[in-house]
Amino acid sequence: MFSRIARRYDVANRLLSGGVDVWWRHRLVAVVRRQAVTDVLDLATGSGDVAFALSKGLAESTAITGMDFCQPMLDEAVIKQKSSGRFSNVNFRQGDGMALPLADASFDGVTISFGLRNMADRHRALCEMFRVLRPGGRLVILEFSQPYAWFRPLYYFYLKRILPSIAAVVTGDRGAYEYLCGSIERYPGHTAMTAEIVQAGGRRVEVKRMTLGSVALHIAFK
Ligand SMILES: C[S@@+](CC[C@H](N)C(=O)[O-])C[C@H]1O[C@@H](n2cnc3c(N)ncnc32)[C@H](O)[C@@H]1O
Repeated sequence: MFSRIARRYDVANRLLSGGVDVWWRHRLVAVVRRQAVTDVLDLATGSGDVAFALSKGLAESTAITGMDFCQPMLDEAVIKQKSSGRFSNVNFRQGDGMALPLADASFDGVTISFGLRNMADRHRALCEMFRVLRPGGRLVILEFSQPYAWFRPLYYFYLKRILPSIAAVVTGDRGAYEYLCGSIERYPGHTAMTAEIVQAGGRRVEVKRMTLGSVALHIAFK
């Protein structure tokens, strides 16, 4: 599915979120910046926007690995990297989030933005992220969440009735964006998500709810 939408993915993101997705990723980078890091993994990196935002926000000496299992998404990321002539500390690699081709304890930061919801086995993916983190390292998850109760009807009206039609015009793939809505509806709220992170080995979990609760940042230490 991500291969099908890879070429129009960025433009659809900007349009469907009204540009606010750039701010969400900026908040993620601000959290990563709180602690000195030398090696960061951005899992489910897609077209690389978080990896590039990390590159801009962190010291040049930080090694950033962008990993995704979908080669066409990584191809988009590499095209953007080459055309910018920047971000030389970012290295894109193909890999599956549920069986990361990476050594234990090799990163002091792991980020994942709008990727965890798409993992076929969330617990396994979370365990993998904690496996590759060094003790004391942090996992930062940016993901959709369940919005405040009063906002829910309006939010789901937009997701179910308006968003797929706009996405169909922009990407030519209505099905992918109907999947988006269903996957958001099935995704746990911030409290249940915190419990899942703890179950996978996360400690001192902190949550930041954004945009009326429709998106959340979960921060956890190994
Ligand atoms: C909605 S995109 C998010 C891309 C990017 N992180 C962003 O914020 O725009 C979800 C990404 O998760 C990737 N993905 C889904 N399951 C995966 C898995 N098991 N391993 C690696 N990547 C996966 C998809 O290929 C896709 O690029």
